[in-house]
Amino acid sequence: MSVLIKSVRLYGEGDPVDVLVADGEIADIGTGLSGDEVVDATGCVLLPGFVDLHTHLREPGREDTETIETGSAAAALGGYTAVFAMANTNPVADSPVVTDYVRRRGEEVGLVDVHPVGAVTVGLKGEQLAEMGMMAAGTGRVRVFSDDGMCVYDPLIMRRALEYASTLGVLIAQHAEEPRLTKGAVAHEGPNAARLGLTGWPRAAEESIVARDALLARDAGAKVHICHASTAGTVEILKWAKSQGIQITAEVTPHHLLLDDSRLETYDAVNKVNPPLREKSDVEALRAGLAQGVIDCVATDHAPHAEQDKCCEFSQARPGMLGLETALSVIVETMVNTGLLDWRGVARVMSERPAEIAGLDDQGRPIEIGEPANLTIVDPSASSKVDKLNSLAKNTPFRGMELPGRVVGTMLRGRVTALNGEVRR
Ligand code: NCD
Ligand code: ZN
Repeated sequence: MSVLIKSVRLYGEGDPVDVLVADGEIADIGTGLSGDEVVDATGCVLLPGFVDLHTHLREPGREDTETIETGSAAAALGGYTAVFAMANTNPVADSPVVTDYVRRRGEEVGLVDVHPVGAVTVGLKGEQLAEMGMMAAGTGRVRVFSDDGMCVYDPLIMRRALEYASTLGVLIAQHAEEPRLTKGAVAHEGPNAARLGLTGWPRAAEESIVARDALLARDAGAKVHICHASTAGTVEILKWAKSQGIQITAEVTPHHLLLDDSRLETYDAVNKVNPPLREKSDVEALRAGLAQGVIDCVATDHAPHAEQDKCCEFSQARPGMLGLETALSVIVETMVNTGLLDWRGVARVMSERPAEIAGLDDQGRPIEIGEPANLTIVDPSASSKVDKLNSLAKNTPFRGMELPGRVVGTMLRGRVTALNGEVRR
């Protein structure tokens, strides 16, 4: 069955065209085309499907907060065609038993390509390297490894992990947090946390690890990816490292591009996240860094949590925020409507760069005849109030906010996975 995306502007450029999709590929681009199913995309922008390098799907272990199925649905609704499922599950994804399962379950659900992330160290404990080679060789085909949630804090372990990863041709993604500097920390260290009596998480805890890992990657001739960059100083270090030819890449989350620590005032733990919401000056630096390519891409860090783990004392609450279904709108608000990125730029930071970083050859591809039909249709003029989301969990900091831009439809290898807010299983 063919699908015709009717009257859409590729990357928001030029005149509207029709895009015919058949057999999983873009079969034709032109005007006056016809197809079996017609998706009217008048006024919409067509982009390559989004790729999320940082998603927590909570299966196995916390299926009360998200599953591979519910998370895949949220991803499709958010315009994603590929997500990387982090390893901090229970049991931890530190062996092929878990990573093979995550891959297989994602394929069964079939709404988005679910790529398992393997742990760097056994049990995320930071002490002993996990069998990265076995996870890479298994049916899970793991290509990205991370202890996310925890930092690979020991420099010698990190050095060995980078060396091992470089011989395997896989990527290490670091959650940069020097644990000796963040003991008991729950909020960004600054005037707001001090006034509110919250223990601070200093910028240097992130920046010192980013700088250290840049040097370790340089010496190992390895690649390193920095998860959720959150400070102006991290942007400066990335700029320096890239100028030295170090193979370092980085992501920023939508929430760090929009929110700052003035949100802590209410002590509502929906605003608690790792790394913490920083200051306005950091938000500005992150936006500029993303616009200039110093920060490579956007990753959601979609982190579902149960009500009881969020609606409690701030210090006891778990850190993390939902992200998949609101990412595009937050990027439109912070990067497009501010003039920092055009739609080509959105395609770069939400699809092309993350696909390249993870080495996916069928995602983030040009919208051209013969290319795989992994596509996202966006209505740039729509605007809506964030209300009920489709994730099992409810912890979105954006609830009640009026945000611009809407994902109208998503297509995975030519199959419509979401259309007008409905998932197509
Ligand atoms: C993440 C989680 O809940 O798993 N939480 C968070 O605050 N970001 C872990 C992580 O990404 O560090
Ligand atoms: Zn993290």
